[in-house]
Amino acid sequence: MSAHSENTSGARMAAPVQPTADAAAAPALLDVRDLHVAYDKVEAVSGVSVRVGQGQIVTVIGPNGAGKTTLLSAIMAVLPARGDIVLAGQSLIGREIEDCVAAGMNLVPEKRELFSEMTVQDNLMLGAFHRYRTGLRDQDQTLAEVYELFPRLRERSGQLAGTLSGGERQMLAVGRALMAKPRLLMLDEPSLGLAPRIVREVFRIVARLREMGVSILLVEQNARAALQVADYAYVLETGRVTLEGPAKDVAQDPRVIDIYLGLGHGAAATN
Ligand SMILES: Nc1ncnc2c1ncn2[C@@H]1O[C@H](COP(=O)(O)OP(=O)(O)O)[C@@H](O)[C@H]1O
Ligand SMILES: [Mg+2]
Repeated sequence: MSAHSENTSGARMAAPVQPTADAAAAPALLDVRDLHVAYDKVEAVSGVSVRVGQGQIVTVIGPNGAGKTTLLSAIMAVLPARGDIVLAGQSLIGREIEDCVAAGMNLVPEKRELFSEMTVQDNLMLGAFHRYRTGLRDQDQTLAEVYELFPRLRERSGQLAGTLSGGERQMLAVGRALMAKPRLLMLDEPSLGLAPRIVREVFRIVARLREMGVSILLVEQNARAALQVADYAYVLETGRVTLEGPAKDVAQDPRVIDIYLGLGHGAAATN
């Protein structure tokens, strides 16, 4: 094992993968096992295992190109994968996006993918499409809840989505995903391109969602903010998990401090 495998914190190198006490403490809502995802023959995710406990915020941090978006896309069945993806005991590997939504997962993609020429409210209602199609008629109630979470969206409900600021667009993307009433919300770089004040607001909302019982898988390049809000963390590098542990321990890991948190913040780096 490398020199980083043992440090004073509780974080540990990923291999061999064994459930930690912390991960086992909460029953797994999402259990991704040995996932492989390739573009043509080039593997972008190579044997990744990730768990999200019920009611947890779990973050995956790592550099650009590490495979974070690929991982979330595969979990959501946007990309085909090998391995297993289990949500609340139900295996979803090889299924369709709609099956994943029906099972209770939703993804806020990095590109947010809003309909600029539609109003804020119509964008939100689209998020409830699956529930509507299956005969559920609780959309007005859910919309009221989303507006309570994002008062700004209520103010802007009749405006075209294309006229929103970057922060408002991110709120709308999260709000639309919440309209599907997911048990597991996956967020791909929600802070990307946003001003620091808006980033803080986004992370406040993420913490609030956990209080509301939504479990969260949060992918971020903003490691500092992600580790602050998360319960558990994985470091993904070139398609593999290189470190995992309780977020507070990962934040203390010398290598994480060195590479992801920068120098001069908290504990001194060792090299
Ligand atoms: N559509 C694609 N076709 C081929 N390679 C891709 C595609 N999307 C991503 N990749 C490659 O897969 C790897 C992981 O990319 P990605 O999952 O986007 O990383 P991250 O989200 O961590 O920045 C990178 O090497 C990237 O170049
Ligand atoms: Mg990405």
